Amino acid sequence: MDIQDNVFLVTGGASGLGAATAQLIRNHGGKVILADMNEAGGEKLAKELGGVFVKCDVSREEDGQRAVEAATQLGSLRGLVNCAGIAPTAKTVGKDGPHVLDLFANTIGVNLIGTFNIDPAGGGCHVEERTECCGRAGRDREHGVGGGLRWPDRPGGLRSIERRRGGHDFADHA
Ligand SMILES: NC(=O)c1ccc[n+]([C@@H]2O[C@H](COP(=O)([O-])OP(=O)(O)OC[C@H]3O[C@@H](n4cnc5c(N)ncnc54)[C@H](O)[C@@H]3O)[C@@H](O)[C@H]2O)c1
Repeated sequence: MDIQDNVFLVTGGASGLGAATAQLIRNHGGKVILADMNEAGGEKLAKELGGVFVKCDVSREEDGQRAVEAATQLGSLRGLVNCAGIAPTAKTVGKDGPHVLDLFANTIGVNLIGTFNIDPAGGGCHVEERTECCGRAGRDREHGVGGGLRWPDRPGGLRSIERRRGGHDFADHA
């Protein structure tokens, strides 16, 4: 992929995998938009990288649209890297009782719906079809880390969506 002078939107770009990806893109001459809920971390890193920070909850349609709009204002949006994610752990039934539904719903909301929301063809945001997409968040759920549930969130959910529509395949990169 040609990174030099192209624009890349990195969700969860304020820390961890997203921040490292943004740094790498910058090192190769790309422009980065960091979309994250962490305002302090995101603003600081965006300044260091000469990029732009957009406060964004990926599970909210209007936030996702705002992030994509900010990215397209910088130039040709060539890449979307989905690193925004959360990884709470809970047993189906623990010593304090059954798994709290809100925790499950919130994780699906961020890791799966949040990715779909910034999906080129599916969600509220309409990234150009030639934008490359990949993601990471949620992978550990597939393996049931920490004795928790095998949540069918990002990897499983996206593979299912991809199979149905046969279009962009970012589940392979999840
Ligand atoms: N680090 C790893 O080795 C690894 C391995 C497998 C999977 N993952 C998954 O990848 C994802 C990123 O991992 P990380 O280590 O970079 O975690 P991290 O906590 O360092 O970064 C996640 C970022 O996502 C942001 N975020 C959380 N909810 C958000 C929301 N609703 N909207 C926008 N931004 C939001 C956070 O503010 C944070 O900056 C996580 O879901 C994690 O479970 C990480």
